Amino acid sequence: MRRKLAAGNWKMNGTGAELAELAALAQSHPAPEGTDILICPPATLLSRAADTTRGGPVQVGGQDCHAAASGAHTGDLSAAMLLDAGASAVILGHSERRADHGETDAIVLAKAEAAIAAGLLAVVCLGETLEEREAGKTLSVVGTQLAGSVPEGASGATLVVAYEPVWAIGTGKVPTLEQIGEVHDFLRAELTNRFGAETAEGIRLLYGGSVKPGNAAEIFAVSNVDGALVGGASLTAADFSPIISAL
Ligand code: G3H
Repeated sequence: MRRKLAAGNWKMNGTGAELAELAALAQSHPAPEGTDILICPPATLLSRAADTTRGGPVQVGGQDCHAAASGAHTGDLSAAMLLDAGASAVILGHSERRADHGETDAIVLAKAEAAIAAGLLAVVCLGETLEEREAGKTLSVVGTQLAGSVPEGASGATLVVAYEPVWAIGTGKVPTLEQIGEVHDFLRAELTNRFGAETAEGIRLLYGGSVKPGNAAEIFAVSNVDGALVGGASLTAADFSPIISAL
């Protein structure tokens, strides 16, 4: 049985003052049975966030890492550095990084391999643009991204896949439940083809894109949805807490 996961991506939001939200979240959720909670703050807060949540139900993670272990990569962070700062996971291949930094499937794959090798849970993101959906290319796009971004040997212990339609991120637009189910069922089938049923059944599939307290429960009820990757609504305990409760 897969554990449910509520993951929050703070993106480029938050300074020390916002750690109070994390503390409030940690206090309001005494480790719900079968449920994992992950918050990915900006890297500047990782270490303090880890201190704030230590011993409680909330894990912390990074939002990106470099594929190399060390070296001349100004401004970048290795997977081992994230681990050292207290992270247990890292988001990779978010559409904002694919768009802002030209990250290809091959780059995301290399980062995922590095993250897993360092002992982090790799949360690999994929999803179609509105143009691709309207052209009927959604499944072929996410299938290509999945095949190209997910490392060989991945398992439920090392990998989470987050389906995030680009057009649903931060827009308030959400696919229909049927559309979400279609993609998640497809991703499960693709993982099964590649890794076999036993391994594929252990890999969690998150939905991301305008998840809010008001729509979380119906999204979590969709087949093969094992939780959510939440942006805006993860920034406050008041919004994220009911999403966790809806898992
Ligand atoms: O990583 C999170 C996603 O980009 C979703 O963001 O919940 O603000 O739409 P959002």
